[in-house]
Amino acid sequence: MTSPTLLAPHGPAVSGRSAPGRLGQMIAVASGKGGVGKTWFSVTLAHALTRAGARVLLVDWDLGLANLDVQLGLAPQTDLATVLRDRRPLADAVLHHQVGFDILAGSSGTGAISALDAGGLAYMLTATRGLAEQYDYVICDLAAGIDPTVRRMAAFADLLLVVVTDEPTSLTDAYAVLKLHRQDAPSPTRPARIVVNRASSPSSGSRTYTTLARACQTFLGQTPALAGIIRRDDRVADAIRRQTPFLGRHPTSAAAADVEAVARAVLQGG
Ligand SMILES: Nc1ncnc2c1ncn2[C@@H]1O[C@H](COP(=O)(O)OP(=O)(O)OP(=O)(O)O)[C@@H](O)[C@H]1O
Ligand SMILES: [Mg+2]
Repeated sequence: MTSPTLLAPHGPAVSGRSAPGRLGQMIAVASGKGGVGKTWFSVTLAHALTRAGARVLLVDWDLGLANLDVQLGLAPQTDLATVLRDRRPLADAVLHHQVGFDILAGSSGTGAISALDAGGLAYMLTATRGLAEQYDYVICDLAAGIDPTVRRMAAFADLLLVVVTDEPTSLTDAYAVLKLHRQDAPSPTRPARIVVNRASSPSSGSRTYTTLARACQTFLGQTPALAGIIRRDDRVADAIRRQTPFLGRHPTSAAAADVEAVARAVLQGG
């Protein structure tokens, strides 16, 4: 566990730094199939954007499972579940991580967030949008799958990043996410982009993207853009085991360079 002294309850970032990206852009990270690397990617993207000078809030929207807590070794006293239950300001549960970004952790085992009803969800979305005004980017780590709550969150974001691996089930499930997202958020201002993760090489990742993009073009008449290809790296598991942000631990790795490339594209609005 990260030492609690390294983390402090923290209101919204007030650093005054600004990034070239749009103010308060909400980026949701989704996948059809579970376990493809959404949480790791969300943390690492948040870190990469922070290193580039952006003010970033990382939010755990994986209701009930509190993935971010685990990967970052957090044990927050006040979490998203608590503030939602009591309809308190979300800022009450924001923590500051020593590497520079802020975190809104999901639930420290209370289970309350998994019982989020429609009113609670609406409150959370609106309140997150309000909090986003204090940041350049808000990265929202979603649960896997296509249940109505996840779909609503994905459609609410300004940009949806769909994480996919080369496994056939990951590809078919990512296609389902993209298809539903097109129904839920048909406006071209709410696009979805593909992140290929755990690619054995850039060319293999490119083939994975092409397979998915072709299916989308054929059946949906639309090709989602590629946000990036992230290579498979055994050191990812090492960083997660140590509950340490990957970019800090393995800054010169191929996977770090790949996520930094995604961050640059995000900063450039691509
Ligand atoms: N680029 C990568 N290279 C190697 N391993 C990776 C990579 N990205 C993720 N992983 C591994 O994939 C596993 C799942 O990662 P993670 O928990 O972030 O996935 P998830 O999509 O958030 O899962 P869930 O759907 O359960 O929330 C982890 O064990 C992690 O080590
Ligand atoms: Mg996760």
